[in-house]
Amino acid sequence: MNAETLQQSFSTHFNSKPEFIVRAPGRVNLIGEHTDYNDGFVLPMAIDRAMWIALSPRDDSQIRIRSLDLETDAVFDLHSLAKGEGWVEYIKGMANELQNAGYKLKGFDAVMTGDVPRAAGLSSSAAVELATARAFAAVSGFKWDATQMAQLAQKAENEWVGVNCGIMDQMASAAAKEGFALFLDCRSLGYQYAPLPENVSVVILDTSTRRGLVDSAYNERRSQCEEAARWFGVKALRDVSVAEFYRKTKEEKLDEVVLKRARHIVTENERVLEAVQVMKAGNVKRLGELFNASHDSLRDDFEVTNDELNIMVECAREQESCYGARMTGAGFGGCAVALVQKENAEEFVNAVSAAYRQRSGVDASVYVCKASEGASLVK
Ligand code: GLA
Repeated sequence: MNAETLQQSFSTHFNSKPEFIVRAPGRVNLIGEHTDYNDGFVLPMAIDRAMWIALSPRDDSQIRIRSLDLETDAVFDLHSLAKGEGWVEYIKGMANELQNAGYKLKGFDAVMTGDVPRAAGLSSSAAVELATARAFAAVSGFKWDATQMAQLAQKAENEWVGVNCGIMDQMASAAAKEGFALFLDCRSLGYQYAPLPENVSVVILDTSTRRGLVDSAYNERRSQCEEAARWFGVKALRDVSVAEFYRKTKEEKLDEVVLKRARHIVTENERVLEAVQVMKAGNVKRLGELFNASHDSLRDDFEVTNDELNIMVECAREQESCYGARMTGAGFGGCAVALVQKENAEEFVNAVSAAYRQRSGVDASVYVCKASEGASLVK
């Protein structure tokens, strides 16, 4: 999608030019999976697939918005928000949280479109939420505070939409920087930009599988992690070191499943910290090994992969140009991510697509992605 096409669609729909165009990206998580709701560390990057909104302010408190992708319109009033169903709930939820936080919002006319695949683990919903927040900031004239916007977006998703997610996706979409990954401490919400190694491509490997029941499995993992934190006597698993984990689980008996869940979180946090170090040092080989270890831990200990994700990761790792590969996002389906030698990226894409089709019988979409900018005003 480019700004011009979006502008034209706005004009066709509202008979005028849009005053603003905003964009908020989806994300791919490089490493640090399921650690965000354990107050831990994550390392996502925003991708070059995003949600775009073209809009102009209105004189009243109405929101009129057309989804170009779904070819449907929605109308609601900022003074009488009521829960309903469908895509517009992300927009209403965001409006509700902004108003609760004291922002005075103006109504707007808008068209929106996006190319973040839905339910693929690339955070299309965070992209909608942050694009909405950016749109409100533009028409209502308030300053963009990335961290606060991410927190309000997470609240909208938790409380209005009813999905119990952590803070990673919203922070990535709100605060990412072009060319960098975002190293985020999910407890303090402090972040740093970590440089992506040169001569390396980040490749997204979409298995084309979309699993139902993700919410209940996700919530179950969350409670198991909370149970483990209680057992260790800490606020969150972030507070348990790898050494402490092995010491205590050797001395006392912890339920086998809870132990495995905790082992993933504790070792994953350590992997993220090491990943940031090796990225700074340009050690791609080690970064790839950490990717592999992360996937194996998610497969064996956290148990959130499915057959297709495991097959995809195997197909990727078999290529000589691949430094490492792992599932990304919540799991149970969706995407994996691989680190690949840049000069062989195209060959890698073709080889993995063919191998995956042969072994799983399913067509995948595999593409190189670039680290893009977080939510921004384009026009
Ligand atoms: C989903 C959630 C995130 C995070 C990941 C797993 O994407 O929205 O908050 O928990 O799963 O790392």
